[in-house]
Amino acid sequence: EISYNDIPNFPISTVKGHNSKIIFGKIFGLDICVMAGRFHFYEGYALDQVVLPIRIMAHLGIKTLFVTNAAGGIKKSFVPGTLMMLTDHINFMGTYPLIGPNDDALGPRFPDMSTVYSERLRAAARPIANNLDIHFAEGVYLACTGPSYETPAEIGMFRTLGADAVGMSTVPEAIVANHACIEVCGISCITNLAAGMSGEALSHEEVTETANRVRDSFASLLEQLIGHA
Ligand code: HPA
Repeated sequence: EISYNDIPNFPISTVKGHNSKIIFGKIFGLDICVMAGRFHFYEGYALDQVVLPIRIMAHLGIKTLFVTNAAGGIKKSFVPGTLMMLTDHINFMGTYPLIGPNDDALGPRFPDMSTVYSERLRAAARPIANNLDIHFAEGVYLACTGPSYETPAEIGMFRTLGADAVGMSTVPEAIVANHACIEVCGISCITNLAAGMSGEALSHEEVTETANRVRDSFASLLEQLIGHA
């Protein structure tokens, strides 16, 4: 384990309940590198800082990025606890992590984004999720900056735009990984129905409660999926 504090220039995660270290290990004989705690744009970091760990991992030579998040469900069939594999994303953050000088050692100036999320790993996930009895779905993730949850009118707009889930992370990391030719697998835990859909106010407590409830099956899915990386 390496604490973020011990890595020069590394940002520190400020969200309660998020740890701050990189853990190296092996799963099924594969070398893995896990971020316990990530950096969100809403914490006030520049996007460059948010994606710095991905760029470091790219230079370390990782081949596959598994990126997870908590998200609000926009698609009406989703129930809290659903695990949604990302098929695609909509960047609604109003900024872009590849703006600025291009690192030609990582990827091209004008990268293709037509298949950011691995179809191969999505296909591998279906039977695994089925065996684990998981509420499983696939869909489009839309990223906002946060830190507030959305308004009901915004959720209505996002549904019209083609989004199935909404959150405040993941898209910058996925863009940077795809730029660097890293295979990306994105999974959202639908922790709540999006704003205006349940008649209840949204809260961080509801989000963490659902995330904790599905923690074990989410971990099993991830672990088995890593075996297919
Ligand atoms: N909106 C945005 N981000 C989220 C949500 C939500 O409803 N739930 C968990 N993260």
